Amino acid sequence: MLGGKFITLGVTGGIASYKAADLASKLTKLNARVHVVMTGSAQKFVAPLTFEAVTGNPVHYDTFASSTGFHVPHIDLAYNANILVVAPATANFLGKTAHGIADDLLTTTILAANCPVLICPAMNVHMYANKVVQSNIERLKQLGYYFLEPESGRMACGHQGKGRLPEVHAIVDRIVEIIPPSGDLSGITVLVTAGGTREPIDPVRYISNRSSGKMGYALARAAMLRGARVILVTAPTSVAPPAGVSLVQVETALEMRDAVMEHYAAADVVIKAAAVADYRPRLVAEQKIKKEGDTLVLELDKNPDILMELGRNKRKGVTLVGFAAETENLLENAREKITKKNLDLLVANDVTMPGAGFGTDTNIAKLIHPDGGVVSLELMDKYDLANRILDEVIIVSQGTVL
Ligand code: PMT
Repeated sequence: MLGGKFITLGVTGGIASYKAADLASKLTKLNARVHVVMTGSAQKFVAPLTFEAVTGNPVHYDTFASSTGFHVPHIDLAYNANILVVAPATANFLGKTAHGIADDLLTTTILAANCPVLICPAMNVHMYANKVVQSNIERLKQLGYYFLEPESGRMACGHQGKGRLPEVHAIVDRIVEIIPPSGDLSGITVLVTAGGTREPIDPVRYISNRSSGKMGYALARAAMLRGARVILVTAPTSVAPPAGVSLVQVETALEMRDAVMEHYAAADVVIKAAAVADYRPRLVAEQKIKKEGDTLVLELDKNPDILMELGRNKRKGVTLVGFAAETENLLENAREKITKKNLDLLVANDVTMPGAGFGTDTNIAKLIHPDGGVVSLELMDKYDLANRILDEVIIVSQGTVL
C-alpha cells in the first residue's frame, strides 16, 4: 500500500498531538517508513518514546544530534521523504513556516524539503479564524503547500467550532491522494456499490434497510489504497467517503441501476456490497400522506436486479462479485445466487450472527466460488475482510484482467 514510502511526520505542540501517534501507527501498518520529528512543545504533550514504539524508528528533535541514524538530520529527513506531513500544525508553526523562519529541527527540515508537504492545522477556533493565521495559510497555499482543513466540533478547550484535527483515516486518504500507492491493483478500475437504497413513499417517508455503507466503503478504501481507480456508487450513508475515490451519490434502486450501468464499461471489477431494495412503492405521493385510516396498504413494484443484469451482460475480462445477506440456509441460498447471477465470487454473510452484517464494524463471511469452493472466514474488521475479498478477486481474475 504505502510500502517503501518514506514519510517524515512533523508533530507540533497541540492537544491533538496524541492523535499523531495513531497516525504514525496507521502509516507504519500500511508499510510506510515513518520518521517523526517533534518540536519541544510537542514533547510536553506526548513522549517521543510513544512514537518510537509505534514506528520502530528513533524520534528526531535535535537539529544538532548525530545519534539518530542520519548524517545531517534536517537534510536527510527532507531529502529521503516521499512526503512530509505536519499533524497537528500549530499557529506558531504556520507563522514561522510562512515566513521562512527555521529555528528548530522541524522548520529547518521543511525549508530543505523538495517533496510535497501536507499541513494539517489544529488549534482553538478563534486562533484558527485569526486573520494573521488565515493569511499565513493563504500564503503557504500559494507557495504550493498542501492543506487538510480542520474539522468542526467540540474542542478540548471547551469551545465549539472549526479547529479539530481531522480523523486519522482522512489524513491517510489525503496522503494517498498526494502520493498514490503503487499496489497490486494499480491500473485496475473497481466499481463498488454501498449502502441501502431509499424508495420514497411521499416527500417525507421512504422504505429502506439497515445497511450503513460500512462494508462497501471499506472495500472502496482498501481497493484505493492498493492502487485501484475506484468508482463508489453509494446510497445515502453517514460514513465519510475515502478521499481518493470517484463518488457517485444515488438514492433509489433505479438511480443506482442507472449509475452502475453508466460506469460499468470502465470497470474491470464490480463489487456489489449495496443492499438494494427489491421493491419500491408503485405511487409516490406528492404530499405527505395523512394519518387517516387504521391501516394503510402500499402497493409495491419489483425493482430491477442490478447484479443479475450485469451477470447477464458480463463482458469478457470483468470480474463480478456479489454479496448475499441471509438470515437462514446461508450456503444453499448463496449458491443459488452465484449461479443465477453468473458471478465470479460471492460474499455470503449470515446477518443474524453477532458482529456480522448490517451496521457493525466487523463481519463474518464465506467467500463462495462458482465451482462450489468455500473459504470460511472468522469474525474480522470490515476493512480486513475487504482486503481478503480483494485477495480472492486477484486469484479468480488471474489470466483475465489482472
Ligand atoms: O452496509 P453495512 O451496514 O456495512 O452492511 C453490510 C451488508 C450486510 C449490507 C453487506 O455485507 C451485504 O450483505 N450486502 C448485500 C445485501 C443484499 O442486498 O443482499 P441480497 O442477498 O439481497 O442481494 C444479493 C446481491 O444482489 C447483492 O450483491 C446486491 O447488491 C445485489 N442486488 C440485490 C437486489 C437488487 N435489486 N439488485 C442487486 O444488484
